[in-house]
Amino acid sequence: MHIYDATTYGDRFSDIYDQWYRDYDPAAIDALAELARGGPALELGIGTGRFALPLQEKGVIVHGVDASEKMVARMRTKPGGERIPVAIGNFADVPVEGQYPLIYIVFNTIFALLSQDEQVRCFQNVAAHLTPDGVFVTETFVPDMTRFRNHRRIDLIDLDDGYVRVDAARHDPLRQWIFSNQVVWSESGMRFYPVKLRYIWPSELDLMARLAGLRLAERWGDWDKRPFTAESKKHISLYRPLT
Ligand SMILES: C[S@@+](CC[C@H](N)C(=O)[O-])C[C@H]1O[C@@H](n2cnc3c(N)ncnc32)[C@H](O)[C@@H]1O
Repeated sequence: MHIYDATTYGDRFSDIYDQWYRDYDPAAIDALAELARGGPALELGIGTGRFALPLQEKGVIVHGVDASEKMVARMRTKPGGERIPVAIGNFADVPVEGQYPLIYIVFNTIFALLSQDEQVRCFQNVAAHLTPDGVFVTETFVPDMTRFRNHRRIDLIDLDDGYVRVDAARHDPLRQWIFSNQVVWSESGMRFYPVKLRYIWPSELDLMARLAGLRLAERWGDWDKRPFTAESKKHISLYRPLT
């Protein structure tokens, strides 16, 4: 059995991450730049710099945290990637000095912490690193159990001559875990890309923030700041220190 820890996702995905997850919403960069007010901004789970690099290009000073040296090494090969200071470690610890007007975590990355305690600890450490007028921004999907049948799901993601990519997932409703494995078959063989996450309900996220001395200030349904509704598939939540 393989050990799955904070480094596993990045170390396994670093080779194909930029190919599979190349796109980002430019409205996200505009919204984060506005909230950073010049920065410095801190990205938790900075990865290969998909959000951090365009944010830096907009004139914001960006710092990062990531557990995977391989993901960060990818960012270092890109223009501007060598200028972003990155602390290698668990983002639940927020292992950096000082305070930030903006700390953000996008693309469901807070779900990478696999227990409620660790997620609350992350909020508490974020709160300790926010300036008094600072903001913590999270982007996460809204859990949708209709995607599973008997707590299981298999999706064909991509298929071509000599190439098949399938995502197989299992849901544990008690622990709020979704464990998935993307399997790629190609002429060069088979590879596994495992992902483990603990999803958080929007109301639970707000309670975690309260436990850390933060409050929900705004919730958007997308980066264009459209309202969050019962139909929203994801939410962008802004938490500020309780005054
Ligand atoms: C889904 S990627 C997102 C990367 C980047 N934010 C983006 O949107 O492209 C998740 C990132 O979080 C990192 N990560 C996962 N768990 C972590 C942990 N506990 N501590 C630090 N980094 C972690 C992974 O190495 C990976 O780079």
